[in-house]
Amino acid sequence: MLNSRKPLSPFSIVIFGATGDLTHRKILPAFYALAQQGLLPEQFHIIGFARRDWTDETFRAEMQHSVEQFGRIKFDAAEWDKFAANLHYHRSDFDQADGYPRLCELLDRLGSPAADNRLFYLATPPEAYPTIVQQLGAAGLNHSEHGWTRIIIEKPFGRDLQSGVALNQQVHEVFAEEQVYRIDHYLGKETVQNLIVFRFANAIFEPIWNRNYIDHVQITVAETVGVESRAGYYDTAGVGRDMLQSHLLQLLTLTAMEPPYAFDARALRDEKVKVLQALHPIRPTDTLPAQYIGYRNEKGVAPKSQTPTFAAVKLAVDNWRWQGVPFFLRSGKQLADKTTEISIVFKRPPHSLFPLAPDELLTPNALTLCIQPDEGMHLRFEAKLPGAGMQRQTVDMDMNYAQDFNGAPLPEAYERLLLDALQGDAALFTRSDEIELAWQAIDPVIHAWETGAVPLFFYEPGSWGPYEAAKFLGEDRGWRGHCGDFDEA
Ligand code: BG6
Repeated sequence: MLNSRKPLSPFSIVIFGATGDLTHRKILPAFYALAQQGLLPEQFHIIGFARRDWTDETFRAEMQHSVEQFGRIKFDAAEWDKFAANLHYHRSDFDQADGYPRLCELLDRLGSPAADNRLFYLATPPEAYPTIVQQLGAAGLNHSEHGWTRIIIEKPFGRDLQSGVALNQQVHEVFAEEQVYRIDHYLGKETVQNLIVFRFANAIFEPIWNRNYIDHVQITVAETVGVESRAGYYDTAGVGRDMLQSHLLQLLTLTAMEPPYAFDARALRDEKVKVLQALHPIRPTDTLPAQYIGYRNEKGVAPKSQTPTFAAVKLAVDNWRWQGVPFFLRSGKQLADKTTEISIVFKRPPHSLFPLAPDELLTPNALTLCIQPDEGMHLRFEAKLPGAGMQRQTVDMDMNYAQDFNGAPLPEAYERLLLDALQGDAALFTRSDEIELAWQAIDPVIHAWETGAVPLFFYEPGSWGPYEAAKFLGEDRGWRGHCGDFDEA
């Protein structure tokens, strides 16, 4: 819980890429929300590091605009003025050697104790990461004499196994792994953390969370948006690098992992790593890449682009618990609805006492964890339809965040993750071996797509993907949609 944490010590955060989209939309609004909840210490500094010719005043005015536009907490001018006094701007190119000693001087001027605890946040295009890391090292900013030094690195962390490994090496030349916080913002979502609580703070689900009771698992991250203004990046990334390697595999590991011995960074990440190690190499034929019609006309997209904006992938976790249980992952842009959900679909009853129509099967039980936007959980089961006879109807048992937690707004993922990094808790950040194993799993898939070994399909914007996706799960199985409300297929 955000509001039952130990108070933070004074700190300074340096945001590289302070004029960029992420700082505007996520980082600064998250800091403002933390301040308004009373979660920031008395003394802190937020230093924007970027190329643009801005001053402290410009930075403050720009950030005010962002907080007004994107903040989840109501803007208050007097509160803002208090908060904005902690914002500073440091102008420098990322590869400008004197920019870093000047940053040291600025930190010295800001003074102890806030300047002793330093968090560097790389919110720049990924090409700049190695330069910044190396410059921080050269200026001796990778450690602090009287406090701690940490670094947050945004995704994408590399664009394949080779570059992911190389980046890990570059980072480790300057920072120890314990100082490194690789963000996957899905881990900051309340409902994703609830998956851990749900699995391991209840006794009744664990005994059935395995191949004896579960038929298959579905993980869907569907978006209605297209590539928006990010075509330059997206066309070289596609759904494989943008979503599968990170968010979907993270959801998979939390669903499939063994109980960690404690909720701490080492125990949790060790268990997630074991799932990635147990992944059966994905067969290209178990994947279905597709592109929405009209994608090639988007500004910044190559006219003959083969980049998939949708993919369905079938995975197997080769261990005792999950033998024979397929995991179906799907993600796409320009789909019919925005929904992120994990469905555990159980085996059908082995025999029906009740008359069934020809070809009719009993509906399997399913537990759906709705990650967003209608945060909650749904357990689907069969009930007797009131009246004569023994007719059945499928019904739902619901847990709903808005109802069950008095409509309290959920904190943004970035609020939680920033607090954790400031507190030195890396449990919800990705470790170096995890990143590399995730690339190892997805690389061959992306390679098969890029070389045309698997054909690219096309789909109508606003649909649930290509027609072929409906059949992807095989006979007698359909994708769950709208947080378990119905089966599409
Ligand atoms: C980002 C991807 O990591 O996650 C985007 O780069 C995607 O393409 C976004 O839209 C989805 O995040 P959320 O929190 O809206 O589900």
